[in-house]
Amino acid sequence: MIIFTATPETIRHAADCLKNGGLVAFATETVYGLGADASNPEAVKRIFAAKNRPENHPLIVHLASFKQFEHWAQDIPESAFKLAEHFFPAPLALILKKRPEVSEIVTGGQHTIALRVPNHPVALELLHAFGGGIAAPSANRFCRISPTQAQHVADELGESVDMILDGGACQIGVESTILDLSGDKPTLLRFGQITRSALEAVLKTEIFIPESLEQTTVKTAGMMAIHYAPTTLAMRCDSDLLAVLLKDENQKIGVLTCGSDISSAPNRTVISLPVNPVIYAQNLYAKLRELDALHLDLILVEQPPQGEAWHAVNDRLSKATHHD
Ligand code: TXA
Ligand code: MG
Repeated sequence: MIIFTATPETIRHAADCLKNGGLVAFATETVYGLGADASNPEAVKRIFAAKNRPENHPLIVHLASFKQFEHWAQDIPESAFKLAEHFFPAPLALILKKRPEVSEIVTGGQHTIALRVPNHPVALELLHAFGGGIAAPSANRFCRISPTQAQHVADELGESVDMILDGGACQIGVESTILDLSGDKPTLLRFGQITRSALEAVLKTEIFIPESLEQTTVKTAGMMAIHYAPTTLAMRCDSDLLAVLLKDENQKIGVLTCGSDISSAPNRTVISLPVNPVIYAQNLYAKLRELDALHLDLILVEQPPQGEAWHAVNDRLSKATHHD
């Protein structure tokens, strides 16, 4: 078995594995990451192979402390220090100008680099034991649902990973907020638990959001239209449309509700999530995986509310339900 409960001993073992060019999946507060030594291009190439990820999709480098950012980035703006002081460790990745010696294998050919200090004891202990930067995308196959439990990683990536450090179910459940500080104005590239207004309150300046995140020229996997997707056809609908679609008793339908009271029936599997953005985000990926594993004809997702607290969830849902 490749899943190890995180203990001081297994964490040391995992750090050695990384030093030897191995792949270690580990818990973070957002989703599980698939880690390799960010200063070892051969090890980093194994990440792309295991995920089947195109090589031009840059990775986030995880660090134990903001103090190490200067080893990876240069011309770091004052805004990055402000945010670091206020938030880190946190579900927030900052895009900065990379140092010339940082391999473009890690940055997918970009001259910028994404850096983050994760807020999870397992990730932080691993980073401290390892000492350097750990390049880690979400530990799922390219375009699939991110893993929020160790078993998800084992199911999806199996033996292509050397070790999985189990730190329990992820508390946040959706990926980090990504803020680009490498250009003229701070630009939000991915919605996450840390909202635009929370960032603006600290920076005291407006944060730019590209009108359609898909239209920017930056190669960001999280910006692609189909992403985080179950293999089963998935559609979002409001509660009225949901009631209509559920009249079709011939199709095997899975339903992920957000507040509506719908009971299970033959050919109908219902998973209920509450109208609470924190709990919803925590459970979303695991529940989509559960429904996906049932080999249904269709997954119907009841549309959650709008509003900033739901931005990350609605963004992931719009990508998971591309076919609607
Ligand atoms: O919460 C998270 O951020 C998780 C955990 C494991 O830390 N990681 C994660 O990594 O979501 P990944 O690779 O699945 O998503 C990282 C996103 C990708 O969309 C990538 O394109 C973008 O960050 N990214 C990384 N470096 C970038 C750069 N230099 N410029 C623009 N986008 C970048
Ligand atoms: Mg990902």
